[in-house]
Amino acid sequence: MTDHILVIDEGTTSTRAMLFAKDGTCLGSAQRPLTQHYPAPGLVEHDAAEIWGLTLECAREMVAQAGGAHAIAGIGITNQRETVVFWDRRTGEPLARAIVWQDRRTADMCEALKAAGNEPDVQAKTGLLLDPYFSGSKIGWALKNWPQLKEAGDNLAVGTIESYLVYRLTGGKVHVSDASNASRTALMAIGSGDWDDGLLSLFGVPRSILPEICDSAGQLGMTEASLFGAPIAITGMAGDQQAALIGQSCLEPGQTKATFGTGAFVLTQTGRTLPKSTNRLLATVAWQLGGERHYALEGSVFVAGSLIQWLRDDLGLIDASPDTEPLARSVEDNGGVYLVPALSGLGAPHWQPSARAAIHGLTFAAKKAHVARAALEAMAHQTHDLKTAFAADGADWAELRVDGGMVSNGWMVQDLADILAVEVERPDFVETTALGAAMLAGVGAGLYSSLADASVMRGKVGRFSPAMDTKAREARLAGWKDALGRVLA
Ligand code: G3P
Repeated sequence: MTDHILVIDEGTTSTRAMLFAKDGTCLGSAQRPLTQHYPAPGLVEHDAAEIWGLTLECAREMVAQAGGAHAIAGIGITNQRETVVFWDRRTGEPLARAIVWQDRRTADMCEALKAAGNEPDVQAKTGLLLDPYFSGSKIGWALKNWPQLKEAGDNLAVGTIESYLVYRLTGGKVHVSDASNASRTALMAIGSGDWDDGLLSLFGVPRSILPEICDSAGQLGMTEASLFGAPIAITGMAGDQQAALIGQSCLEPGQTKATFGTGAFVLTQTGRTLPKSTNRLLATVAWQLGGERHYALEGSVFVAGSLIQWLRDDLGLIDASPDTEPLARSVEDNGGVYLVPALSGLGAPHWQPSARAAIHGLTFAAKKAHVARAALEAMAHQTHDLKTAFAADGADWAELRVDGGMVSNGWMVQDLADILAVEVERPDFVETTALGAAMLAGVGAGLYSSLADASVMRGKVGRFSPAMDTKAREARLAGWKDALGRVLA
């Protein structure tokens, strides 16, 4: 039966393919870690050829598990957003390293554009701010600094990760970007769903190198027959945070999710109403179907799971990420230790690319358990700062749906409920990013008539209720405010 869905989930640190049944059951998964290139402090690059190779390997495993291409109704793609790939249209081969969303190389360029008074216009058009996070300045920088891109002339193609994968999967026949990903480039006028000439000239990006902006679901392209034995339709795609919003069934205005992956990203669904933040949050396309865009208000925090990885891989403080949970539980409180994880600057709501991380409050009484606990507590504090900004924008959260690799840590999720003072809901199946892509692909393939219809794919959920006493909570909030103030100063 042709009712399986193949999801390609191309994250910042790994590539994965997953196979879903129509009812949302995950039937299998193949995953490979992705090499991170850090050529200099603040610079983060990926090899798009490696991404493509690993994607193909993982996808082929899942196609084999499904029993062949004929069993797959559609492919859903979800991806790390803002990261840009530069490739040769004739071969599909990358012409340079991909510049990753975490990369800060365009901080000066963004600062100069801000100083010249461009931010209000950029924000009004795109819903975004002038920060090196977004793709536009990265593309402009690459065109100026990497001669091989100029030399490629008309053969140069540029796009975000989903755009590159579709190009490769279709054998170079389709150069598109879905509206949710395009809305993260700072080159798309969010209300029109098209590239904006003023923004293109601001960042120095010619329209001709960019993909066409398309819906997030539908018949988006067919894979080359040779890749999987027979062509498979690509029927859904969205940036990973928007996909998680869908996978959490945040389909009604006001519903909110937080994904704790490499970074932490909170999105509140706003329906067909384009949100306008006055508190340094972002407006973003949640999805586009039949040319109609649904929007979300977003708070993007750059460091979440990557902090735990850093404690493990660079500081050697823990052997494995799950070790943080028993460590946090082994001490009564944080012992006055606060960790502000500005390891790649600070995102929302502060937007300070040059901020640096700090561990504050250390004494000889501090044990590694206190530092591990402070690292986990930073998740609740960063999210609480976002909640304050969302509330000031008139979009406070009644409850929060959480997902992503980090939320398997039950201590951290309870701490979130305690510090945010709202109910927190955690689905049993936390891979909601992949699930959202499967829902989009299911709609695009005609297995479901709407996203609401597809939301049967979301399984059971567990709930965490706030339980911390007011005094302890206030002391935590005050301790964080003090530590953050030192980093921002
Ligand atoms: O905006 C960046 C985001 O899409 C990265 O997501 O899942 O790799 O933390 P993730």
